[in-house]
Amino acid sequence: MPVNSDISKLKIPTHLAVIMDGNGRWAEQSGLARTKGHVAGIDALRRLVECSLKYAIKYLTIFSFSSENWTRPKDEVNFIMRLMHHYVTSDLDKLIQNNVKINVIGEREGIDNSILDLIKKAEQSTKENTGLRLIIAFNYGARKEIVNACKKIAKQVLGGKISIDEINEKIFANSLYLPEIPDPDLILRTSGEYRLSNFLNWQAAYSELIFIDEYWPDFNEKIFIRALQEYSKRNRRFGGL
Ligand code: FPP
Repeated sequence: MPVNSDISKLKIPTHLAVIMDGNGRWAEQSGLARTKGHVAGIDALRRLVECSLKYAIKYLTIFSFSSENWTRPKDEVNFIMRLMHHYVTSDLDKLIQNNVKINVIGEREGIDNSILDLIKKAEQSTKENTGLRLIIAFNYGARKEIVNACKKIAKQVLGGKISIDEINEKIFANSLYLPEIPDPDLILRTSGEYRLSNFLNWQAAYSELIFIDEYWPDFNEKIFIRALQEYSKRNRRFGGL
């Protein structure tokens, strides 16, 4: 199907999750500092949010900083932190106007108070919104999320609230960060890397995975539609026939 042939026939994932990868390589290929790639990544994120609004995606999860990203040079980590601050500060009003509801998932430990305050403000000021749900995975790692869920359940067992035999997938899923959010239908990763990198591993059990070669800063509506065209061709069986 050529791009723009019949957009009305596209299957729209209810929950789209995106691994925004390749900022650094995008910058390096043009002889720029890696930080320039992250700045361009913010514009690409804005295009992704616009596409998600335009095509009525209900849930959009973005991987903006992984718990492993702390191992990067300190300057780069600080830069990404400042960028998170910049993105939320500069775009919050527009997101509110667009009826977007924001949630941030990930560990809060180690995050600057100024960013924590901003996260609180973003979640608080959009909590009644009913449109696109924007979930920002920030200082997020799936294994950590799963370990935290185990601890919560272990405490319930020790407190006598449930027995070990009662632990099931539903109870487990309910102990993750945002239990009310349906699992992602589609996980999209840019930059030609073929892995999940500790992103939503529990929730991704039946997600369709699409990997594209473009670096994240080059993301645009054309690429978005191409990914949805590919997704529309997939036959989801969830283990059935
Ligand atoms: C991947 O590129 C991107 C990141 C590690 C984080 C930065 C993400 C953005 C700037 C988008 C929006 C961010 C926020 C905070 C809302 P990479 O640095 O891993 O690229 P590489 O694989 O080419 O080195």
